[in-house]
Amino acid sequence: MIDETKETGVLKEFHAVRKHAKKITALEKERVGKGLTPWGTYGESLHTYDDVFSAVLPEGIEKFIEARKTQTGKAFVMDAMGSGGFFAGLSFDGGVALALTQPPEEWVKSLTRKSPNVEFIDGDILSGSTWAKVNDYLSRNQEKTNSGFDLIACRPFGGWLMLEPGVQPGTTAHPPRNEIQKLIINNLYKVLRSNGGTLLIELAEEYDGSKFTNKEIQKWLQQLNEQGIETKNSWKIVRLTRTNQSPANLPIN
Ligand SMILES: C[S@@+](CC[C@H](N)C(=O)[O-])C[C@H]1O[C@@H](n2cnc3c(N)ncnc32)[C@H](O)[C@@H]1O
Repeated sequence: MIDETKETGVLKEFHAVRKHAKKITALEKERVGKGLTPWGTYGESLHTYDDVFSAVLPEGIEKFIEARKTQTGKAFVMDAMGSGGFFAGLSFDGGVALALTQPPEEWVKSLTRKSPNVEFIDGDILSGSTWAKVNDYLSRNQEKTNSGFDLIACRPFGGWLMLEPGVQPGTTAHPPRNEIQKLIINNLYKVLRSNGGTLLIELAEEYDGSKFTNKEIQKWLQQLNEQGIETKNSWKIVRLTRTNQSPANLPIN
């Protein structure tokens, strides 16, 4: 039976998060325009991403990308809810950084000089038009990407705190409930390359009960595993690997 109270709650929150993202976008744009760092944590390096994901990717991102290049010939990467800071220092064939706004111009120039196939997509990750831009990138690079990314890292950190109205980047608010996090994760999963594309996620911090408990994460990962998705986690650091046996979408419950 459908739990209508729950359904209404999720939809209501979905709209609240979308509305709030507009507000945060304006603040982020304003700060970037003034030459200020828009978030306390912004454009973190490869070293930081490696530290965050070391429990589920002990070899590190660079070695993972090297192995993908050997297997598939090309490696495409995505920084989801991030501005591609970890791309610097990586040798890869292209990819996208998806965040609410474009990073500073000199940043874009320096990263694209080294990797001309990198694009910066600005938009709300919950918006269809943002995904249209990502899919457009993939179809323009279809021959090389086979319609998916080899590695996606999603490490929003303070970016999860997107709900409370009036909140400024860098201050505390509520992370979106689990259903919204799963929706975002499903969108990311759908653009993974099907033969070993890997998604690294840092789920939201615990806050006011609107978060994944360790038990919920284990249950969710077990369900995914039963559907043919390879999983690994250390508390809220999660790795999902899509294989040729995996479904096209994550099972939703
Ligand atoms: C704290 S920064 C973290 C950036 C990066 N992942 C890092 O570790 O350096 C949060 C990021 O989340 C992005 N973000 C927040 N809400 C978003 C949304 N609804 N859609 C897309 N990006 C979002 C912001 O634009 C910002 O780049």
